Amino acid sequence: MGERDNFSNRFGALVALIGSAVGLGNLWRFPYLVGRNGGAAFIIIYICIVLVICLPLMLCEMVVGRRSKSNVFGAFRKLAPGSHWNIIGILAVLSAVTILSFYSVVGGWTLAYLVKSLGFGFHAVAKGDGAAFSGIFKDFVTSPVQPLLYTLAFMAITGFVVIFGVNRGIEKTSKWMMPIMLVMIVGIVIWSMTLPGSSAGFRYLFKPDFSHVGWNTVLAALGQAFFSLSLGAGTIMTYASYIRKDENILRISAGTVLGDTVFAILAGCAIMPAVFSYGVSPAQGPGLVFVVLPNIFANMPMGSIIAIMFFIILFFAAITSSISLMEVPVAFLIEECHMKRKTAVLVSFVSILALGCVCSLSQGVLGGVKIFGKSIFDFFDFMSANIFMTIGGLLLVIFVGWKLGKAAFKDEMTNGGRLHGANWLLDFFFFIIKFAAPAVIAVIFFTNLI
Ligand code: PHE
Repeated sequence: MGERDNFSNRFGALVALIGSAVGLGNLWRFPYLVGRNGGAAFIIIYICIVLVICLPLMLCEMVVGRRSKSNVFGAFRKLAPGSHWNIIGILAVLSAVTILSFYSVVGGWTLAYLVKSLGFGFHAVAKGDGAAFSGIFKDFVTSPVQPLLYTLAFMAITGFVVIFGVNRGIEKTSKWMMPIMLVMIVGIVIWSMTLPGSSAGFRYLFKPDFSHVGWNTVLAALGQAFFSLSLGAGTIMTYASYIRKDENILRISAGTVLGDTVFAILAGCAIMPAVFSYGVSPAQGPGLVFVVLPNIFANMPMGSIIAIMFFIILFFAAITSSISLMEVPVAFLIEECHMKRKTAVLVSFVSILALGCVCSLSQGVLGGVKIFGKSIFDFFDFMSANIFMTIGGLLLVIFVGWKLGKAAFKDEMTNGGRLHGANWLLDFFFFIIKFAAPAVIAVIFFTNLI
């Protein structure tokens, strides 16, 4: 095991973290959740939850990661020697692996659609034939071979980046992908604004309608914020362990949260006006991205170019998140099992790919196999989001609030007292970490279970 890599500076850490956070969650899930849950009312609730609950949770991951400068398992051995807190590390590795198993399948779909759009494939279908587009999508995801090959390709690209390590792999890739994504999405937003009837889409997104708001809205916002900010899967902790000791982790966390939220809102502004302009239903889930949008692209002037841009964004978003997920088991294998980075990547690649293939096949030939009444794909989704991530998150706030303690928390946040100015804010965040966050996460956990 050689010297531990570091992100070269604050910008490097920030683009990598935003790259992890911005993913499929922002691009297809956020826009339709907003629409379904009362537009701006949901956005307001979402932002409050992000600031009051998720930012403190992110700080916990940051503190544990950067203070220990270790993988998710080793971190607890360093910070709480001889204890059983390293179970949080095990949960984190399990989360990352299960998420990546189904995430890589959807990542494969984004790659397939990018390839299709590059071949201008969407025009081959009769214009406006919505049924044809859902047929294409269904045939593709249920077929036994093609999606597997795309999952394989997606994982191979992920592995290829991770092999090069933190600096030359993760940071370098994020540094060019993230700006391209930003420019492209802003371009699509501007173009979306010019479509006839697009204002209905903006109204759908931004008109506050509190009549739909209830307990379920809050739960939906919480679940979305958790997933979108990559919390509870060990990715933030792992990336934080590569942040240099003299960087301001409060600023980096705030930047990550801001970047992710802005990107989610931009995604809504890119997609919804087009959806309304073409008079199709917005509340579609995954179908929105893979069925509704290709249909719209095939019907509009310059649609082929917009389609290419859109699927590049989707693919970049998915791959940068996937890279962060793979780095969790890889760092664990390197430091705990003393593997070379290459071997660690190979082991992770093969095991996750095997699980990914099963997830992919569960859309088609293995569709009959059910675990607790769910398809394998949905079961993995359920286990990671509702069990591993939430229990991991819960234990982590309890660890920082009650075991690590306020002095160590503040010491790490202020770089040993060298940073000044945010004292009251740190007191406030620590109060939340100690009392409010455990209660809130426990409530989400039990509500989701029933
Ligand atoms: N945040 C990513 C998204 O929005 C998903 C993710 C979850 C990535 C957990 C890493 C860890 O799609």
